[in-house]
Amino acid sequence: MQRLYPPPWTPELPLAGLYLEQPLPPEPAQGAWLYTNFVTSLDGRISLDHGGGCRIPGSIANDRDWRLFQELAARADCLITTGRYLRELAAGCAQDILPLGAEFDDLRRWREAAGMPAQPDVAIVSASLDFAIPPLLREQGRRLWLLAPREAAAERLAAHRRAGAEVLPYPGGEQAEGAGIRHALERLGYRRIYSVAGPQLARTLIAGGALDTLFLTVRHRVIGGAAGSFETLIEGAPLTGSQAFELRWLYLDPAPEGAGQHFARLDATPAARRG
Ligand SMILES: NC(=O)c1ccc[n+]([C@@H]2O[C@H](COP(=O)([O-])OP(=O)(O)OC[C@H]3O[C@@H](n4cnc5c(N)ncnc54)[C@H](OP(=O)(O)O)[C@@H]3O)[C@@H](O)[C@H]2O)c1
Repeated sequence: MQRLYPPPWTPELPLAGLYLEQPLPPEPAQGAWLYTNFVTSLDGRISLDHGGGCRIPGSIANDRDWRLFQELAARADCLITTGRYLRELAAGCAQDILPLGAEFDDLRRWREAAGMPAQPDVAIVSASLDFAIPPLLREQGRRLWLLAPREAAAERLAAHRRAGAEVLPYPGGEQAEGAGIRHALERLGYRRIYSVAGPQLARTLIAGGALDTLFLTVRHRVIGGAAGSFETLIEGAPLTGSQAFELRWLYLDPAPEGAGQHFARLDATPAARRG
C-alpha cells in the first residue's frame, strides 16, 4: 500500500490496521459522525443484476477491500442496514451477516480492548417491513432498532418486536428522511454510525445533508453492463444541486498481477452537511 495523499508519499504501508489506527471523528464536543463505504468499478458500478437481483460482482469485490470494510465496522457503535438487505440475506444472495464477520477475531479483540461491545448495534431502515430479523443478530447481544413509517401496520411491527427490534417511528410518510435517521440515532447516544446499506439509503442520507464521510474503493477495472442491469453509488431522483466532497486521504493498492485499486476518504463539505 502507498499513501498518495496527504503528502508525504509513503510507500510500503501494511493494509491490515490501516483504518483501525487512524484518528477518526467525532471530537468529544461534536455530535455523531455518520459514514458509508462503497466499492466500485472504474465505470462506477457497485452491483450487477445476476438475474435474481443485484450483487457486488466478483470482479470488483476482493479480500483487501473487505478487510477495510470490516475495520470501518470495528470503529462503529451502530450500523445502518435496510429491509432489502435482510430480504437478500434470507434469499442467500447477500454478503455475509452484518459485520463483524466470523473470520475477523482480531477486530473483535480490538473492540474489547477499546471497551466496546463485540458487535455494533444495528438500525434497520424499511418502509415495507417485509423482512425477517435473523435470530443471530439478537443472539450476538446487539440492540436492534427498526426505523419504520409512523403509519406502519401494527401486526408487522409486533412481529419485528417479537424478533427483538425496538421500533423508532419516522414521520412524514413512506420514506424516511436522512436528517431524521441521523437525529434518531444521535438521540440514542450513538457517536460513530456506519451505513452499510446501498444506493437508495446513500441517496436519502446525502439528500438530507446527513452523511459526513464517504469511503470509496475504486477497483481498476471496467465491467460494463446494459442500462438497468447495474447500480451506482446513488439511486433515485436527481439531487437538488450537487453535493461537494473534499478528499481527506488516498491510498494506492497496486496489484502487479492484475487490477489494483485505490482507497479514498471523502468528507462532505459544510455546504453538503446540513443535518
Ligand atoms: N458495492 C458496494 O460497495 C455496495 C455497498 C452496499 C450495497 N451494495 C449493493 O446495493 C444493493 C442494495 O443494497 P441495500 O438493500 O443494502 O441498500 P439500498 O438500496 O440503499 O436500500 C434499499 C431498501 O432500503 C429501504 N430504504 C432505503 N431508503 C429508504 C428510505 N428513505 N425510507 C425507508 N426505507 C428506505 C427500503 O427497504 P424496504 O424495501 O424494506 O422498504 C429499500 O428497499 C445490493 O445489491 C448490494 O449488493 C453495494
